[in-house]
Amino acid sequence: MHVIGGTASTDLAERISRELGNAPFSVPFMKRFPDGELYLRVGGNFQNEDVVIVQSTRSDQDLLELLLLQDAVREGGARRAIVVVPYFGYARQDRRFFPGEPVSSRALARHVELGADGVVTVDLHSSLTLAQFTKPAFEASAIPAFARQLRQRPVDVLVSPDKGGADRVRRLADILGRPWFALEKKRLDSEHVELKLPDPIPFDFQGKQVTIFDDVVSTGGTIVEAAKVLRAAGASAVTSACTHGLFLRDAFERIKAVADDIYATDTLQNGALKVSVAPDIARLLEKEFAPP
Ligand code: R5P
Repeated sequence: MHVIGGTASTDLAERISRELGNAPFSVPFMKRFPDGELYLRVGGNFQNEDVVIVQSTRSDQDLLELLLLQDAVREGGARRAIVVVPYFGYARQDRRFFPGEPVSSRALARHVELGADGVVTVDLHSSLTLAQFTKPAFEASAIPAFARQLRQRPVDVLVSPDKGGADRVRRLADILGRPWFALEKKRLDSEHVELKLPDPIPFDFQGKQVTIFDDVVSTGGTIVEAAKVLRAAGASAVTSACTHGLFLRDAFERIKAVADDIYATDTLQNGALKVSVAPDIARLLEKEFAPP
């Protein structure tokens, strides 16, 4: 397998190549045409080789780069183009909520899979998105990566900021052998939420070290409110952990003001303490895309 790292995922791509037994790794040459359009070129001849392209699609530019990379790899004669999209943008609009809206996750899935023989992603917001691919598509989980990381840290209890994330937190808590529970969340608008402890309060937080685990941190509104609620209940330390750290605008600083540590996986590049999903993606690639 040859691994190519797009600009949104260069570090993770290199880690994946190491996990694949030091598979050949490269980054494309890129420049902008005078009108702003992207030019890229991948090195090498991929005849009879499987090529893994790693590129999160956090921005529309990232998506465009991914589509061009896929075409370049096909032009290079790759046997299979396997696309790893660690953070799959637009996945949160996974259904039509109001008439006239697109199902964005489906639209993106269809375009990404066009130039791919298979797709791998990590912790989708909902499993509906995986079902929207018509080609082989697989989802790696960040839970084993966080289990490896949190095993080395003092964690008394794990918390999901909402019921939607309860199963994810329960699975992590089961591996770590720790208690867990979910807060009650009411979304006020896209930036603000109201959170409260369940009634009756299921745990004595006094002096306890709490880890809040979520799939995405976007504006930070959810994590900040969760940390405040848990501190008010007596928690002595609060760790913020998420798979995909978007950390929009000043989110990182606002979380830092209420949490002791901020962890995120390397599906996105940001200033959080890193938990790598490279081993998990590499094992999935080896299993699902073994040489024919
Ligand atoms: C919601 O269902 C998600 O799991 C996250 O809790 C949410 O996307 C976080 O967004 P924000 O950081 O803007 O509160």
